[in-house]
Amino acid sequence: MAALFIKQAKQYAETRPDYPKHLFEFIASKTPSHNLVWDVGTGSGQAAQSLAGIYTNVIATDTSLKQLELAPKLPNIRYEHTPPVMSMAQVEKLTPQGSLDLVTIAQALHWFPTPTFYEQVKWGLKKPHGVIAAWCYTVPRVNNSVDRVMDQLYSIDSKPYWDPARGFVDDEYRSIYFPFEGVDGGVDDTGPFEFATEKVMDLDDFFMYIRSWSAYQTAKDRGVELLRKDVVEEFERAWNVEGGCDHKQKKVVKFPVFLRIGKVGNI
Ligand SMILES: C[S@@+](CC[C@H](N)C(=O)[O-])C[C@H]1O[C@@H](n2cnc3c(N)ncnc32)[C@H](O)[C@@H]1O
Repeated sequence: MAALFIKQAKQYAETRPDYPKHLFEFIASKTPSHNLVWDVGTGSGQAAQSLAGIYTNVIATDTSLKQLELAPKLPNIRYEHTPPVMSMAQVEKLTPQGSLDLVTIAQALHWFPTPTFYEQVKWGLKKPHGVIAAWCYTVPRVNNSVDRVMDQLYSIDSKPYWDPARGFVDDEYRSIYFPFEGVDGGVDDTGPFEFATEKVMDLDDFFMYIRSWSAYQTAKDRGVELLRKDVVEEFERAWNVEGGCDHKQKKVVKFPVFLRIGKVGNI
């Protein structure tokens, strides 16, 4: 999986959405102090950058060096390249036990919701109020015509090329393993809570976003081009239904975001 993200790092950094300010405000309102965050699967630092404006220090880790190279360099973000499964000794080098106010995982938890990972998160979080926040975003929405072409591409044409873990995103992280306490006391109150983010894109940006899908890369590796000429033409018609196609015409692309959030408790 990590190899797929290496091949697409540039498309990824350029076309993936940033997350809304109120998502971070909501998360930060649940941690009593704002000293240290670990952003896991940081990619090109989309979430780390916003977290660095709220928390004193951010540790941002990823398995892809290429993604990390494209991330914004800020004085209070420490980027670290890690293996997909870290040993306890590696986690201990990253941060002392019970030191983290928050662990965040943006659009990446579905690749590693393992008991080992959660043991390491629980080891690193402050007890009992340390918080874990993991969110994903689902298929973007533009307008009825573009959404119709997108739904065919996403739900049918690209279906065989997604890793089964993508199913957790499709169900908005409802069924992902998430063994934490509700932040407001309720055991079942870990979400998903819905947010939304937007990105202004022209059609070329939109195509580049599709090319950043892991499924696009997997299909390509198997000799299949998901953005076939007829699919491109359908998108062109849908993007500018008034006739004629202008790839530079910008549209607001909306990404629904689903957050699971919980606290570690006194385990
Ligand atoms: C879909 S990207 C999300 C990047 C970024 N957090 C964002 O919000 O756009 C998933 C990231 O998880 C990283 N990744 C995949 N498996 C991982 C693992 N086991 N440990 C840490 N990072 C991992 C990939 O290299 C990739 O950068």
